[in-house]
Amino acid sequence: MQAHRQRLTAISTEELNKDQHRLSNLTFDIAGCHFDLSRQRFDQHTLNDLAALAGEANVASLRDALFAGEPINVSENRAVLHMALRGGAPNLATELVREIEAARQKLYQCAEAIRSGSWRGYTDKPITDVVHIGIGGSHLGPELITEALCDFTAASPKIHFVANIDGFDLVTTLRSLNPATTLFIVASKSFSTLETLENARSARNWFLERTCNTAAIAQHFIGITNNIAAAKDFGLAEENLFSMRDWVGGRYSLWSAMGLPAAIAIGSDNFDKLLHGAAIVDQHFAETPLAENLPLLCALAGLWNYNILGCQSLAILSYDQRLRLLPDYLQQLEMESNGKSVSREGEALDYTTMPILWGGCGTNGQHAYHQLLHQGTSAYAADIIVVAQDQMNLPHHRNWLNANALAQAQAMSDGWIPQSAQDSHRAVPGHHPLSMVLIDELGPTQLGALLATYEHKVFCQGALWNINSFDQWGVELGKKLAEPIYRSLSEQNSSGLAYDTATAALITKLKSPKT
Ligand code: F6P
Repeated sequence: MQAHRQRLTAISTEELNKDQHRLSNLTFDIAGCHFDLSRQRFDQHTLNDLAALAGEANVASLRDALFAGEPINVSENRAVLHMALRGGAPNLATELVREIEAARQKLYQCAEAIRSGSWRGYTDKPITDVVHIGIGGSHLGPELITEALCDFTAASPKIHFVANIDGFDLVTTLRSLNPATTLFIVASKSFSTLETLENARSARNWFLERTCNTAAIAQHFIGITNNIAAAKDFGLAEENLFSMRDWVGGRYSLWSAMGLPAAIAIGSDNFDKLLHGAAIVDQHFAETPLAENLPLLCALAGLWNYNILGCQSLAILSYDQRLRLLPDYLQQLEMESNGKSVSREGEALDYTTMPILWGGCGTNGQHAYHQLLHQGTSAYAADIIVVAQDQMNLPHHRNWLNANALAQAQAMSDGWIPQSAQDSHRAVPGHHPLSMVLIDELGPTQLGALLATYEHKVFCQGALWNINSFDQWGVELGKKLAEPIYRSLSEQNSSGLAYDTATAALITKLKSPKT
């Protein structure tokens, strides 16, 4: 790999693209999305060796184990079957298919009842506002879909998302709402997540203070969880509970009942199209030979960029305002999945995994961090997402937006070398590896396909790095450490708690900020 790197260092992307087969080998059209990997900094020889690496890492047999529902989440002994929720996993037991279908019908009935106004609040008024309370995988996907598909939400009540434990999030959301026409969705796979439970408790108090009607909770609170007992203990009515199975990972859960706010927003027909778009990619991933397999090639490009070219970050640059939340969603999907330092067998790795994923929305980023992308000293890779058409009829909109996206791609990959030494401060080195995604129009099918491609890319990268992409033990320590600090800050049972010097000093400062 290092030899390939040296061989390719001085070759321009334009030179690489003179290979007459390159464009057809490195572009893919799937469910209205055109993926273009021709600006990646590898050639066919490199790809052949990368494909051999995929063979050595047993990606194909791990993929087959994934689709067969084997417990590939080894540290939690769980299957990973979110593809089953969208009809993307063939060969499922008939009983499981029936269960999934029944759950989807329940979800659609609920969504349509809320949309049509047949779901009534306790004063017999239809719902005008839905407040979805959840965090991480129980928030990012549903919000992304709701915002990205805003063109399909005309018949929907307004959907609000509350995630942060900072009460500001909830209070500012509730400020303008009427409890009689507001419906809350409490979304937590575990039903034990601090942020969600605190926010849900405050939402319930807000509701009861204004309605003085405990019985009305049944018309105004819905739960989505794998922990039905805890949701019932919280006071949610059993008929308002949507269950999800433990083989649906939090960050892969938007296809499940967790997608309820999105289904309310876009309607069940469009939600079905979202599932269908993802299932098209599932089928491609499951059946296409490795050398032409899009998610695998995306994963190999990512591994090459990170482990060999030293790109420490992956920028997701959405050239569409509706995809503003895509980087946030992908941060969890990619970094919570593959930010790992032990192998599937639990041994320390002697190589690094997973670049920092970040990003933003074009063209705004061009007037902020793109300076660093063009002239900074850090190696990075980028995915640039472009949408060909939209429903807007504004002269400044689509062509200017897309012209800028293509121009940025050109500058990042080809750069510009000044003719004279005096102009050196204008030099743009280029040579940054890019993938372009061109979406014909931003509809549910296309969005489903885009997200499923990233999901399977993450799976392949985890397989290549031999890590378990489906647990997230790293986030537990912080949760545990926060408990005693909370007690100290609120002076509840805090005697005898000992901290390191820096934490102790900051606790003192927080308790009496002016001293
Ligand atoms: O703390 C991380 C995490 O467990 C994520 O993996 C998950 O998506 C999020 O918290 C929310 O979890 P839950 O749905 O159980 O509330």
